[in-house]
Amino acid sequence: MTKINAKITGIGAFVPEYVLTNHELAQMMDTTDEWIMTRIGIRERRILKGEGLGTSDMGAKAVENLLQKTNTKPEEVDLLICTTVTPDMQFPATANIISDKVGITNAFSFDINAGCSGFLFGMATAAKFVQSGQYKKVVLVGADKMSSIVDYTDRSVSPIFGDGAGAVLFEPTTEDLGVIDEMLHTDGMGRKHLHQKAGGSVKPASHETIDAREHFIYQEGQAVFKHAVKGMADVSVEMMQKHNLTTENLAWLIPHQANMRIIEATANRMGLEKEKVMINIERFGNTTDGTLPLLLWEWESKLKKGDNLIFATFGAGFTWGAMYMKWAY
Ligand code: UT7
Repeated sequence: MTKINAKITGIGAFVPEYVLTNHELAQMMDTTDEWIMTRIGIRERRILKGEGLGTSDMGAKAVENLLQKTNTKPEEVDLLICTTVTPDMQFPATANIISDKVGITNAFSFDINAGCSGFLFGMATAAKFVQSGQYKKVVLVGADKMSSIVDYTDRSVSPIFGDGAGAVLFEPTTEDLGVIDEMLHTDGMGRKHLHQKAGGSVKPASHETIDAREHFIYQEGQAVFKHAVKGMADVSVEMMQKHNLTTENLAWLIPHQANMRIIEATANRMGLEKEKVMINIERFGNTTDGTLPLLLWEWESKLKKGDNLIFATFGAGFTWGAMYMKWAY
């Protein structure tokens, strides 16, 4: 039987208009543009403003952009997966809400939460559905309104995150293209370094949790940083070695964008020059599930059929991993 591979056939995205600069942050808290640029590498990030707007609104815009670019009718979609850490609400799934907003009526849909590795884990999942032969058009959307869980009095967290969304379409192919391999990891012990203290079943929202500011991101930056450098670099190098990828035949590294220093450490371990690394952290910050598709969206015109790509991520969980993909168009 002919092997069915899963390839990406289009990219859509959405970023909100409002630009939150380091200078504006420096007026809100004790920080400077210089500190943020040197220690993180972010100059500005986008913020979704507007009463009643959430993750699904950005996700829906990204999916609409994708459907329009790929000439896909909403009713042709078989499955929509949304990866997010900032769902519109605890339930139902944001994927269901996005499907409703864009008129995707013949699909089932569900969410994945894998921290900043969400889109990577989502790509692996979407690909499996396509490779099974049962699903022909799978939309994967990564979207996060990080500003809804950032404490803008906490200078160690607030410069890092921004809002945004991106979406890709996975379709079957019998060519030797698309997702070739993935290496995915989790270590739940890492939760102590990066989590949201309240709002879940262990500690539901109460006056006390609000007074204690426990509905925001809690992060022990240095511990996360160390694990992120090791996790992302190790798995990317392992992927290169397993598939005989070299600095010559690898076209692009597509890394999660949490800190410029983590991206550089990963590229250095791979021996890769910066020209082969997709980087948008300076303009968008860490958009969590939006990051990987936003990179693809911006670099789409530079990608060539057959390009060898490595995606690499690290995030809350801990979760980390890499994917090897051959670009299909
Ligand atoms: O995507 C999810 C995964 N998350 C990550 O990958 C994040 C990983 N961690 C990091 O990127 C970095 O640890 C941070 C950017 C969060 C922090 O950078 P750092 O170089 O590890 O700084 P630090 O926490 O060691 O703090 C160094 C100093 C401290 O001052 P003292 O104690 O030395 O006087 C902080 O209070 O920098 C201070 N500081 C700041 N100063 C100015 C912390 N944040 C700021 C700030 N502006 N925004």
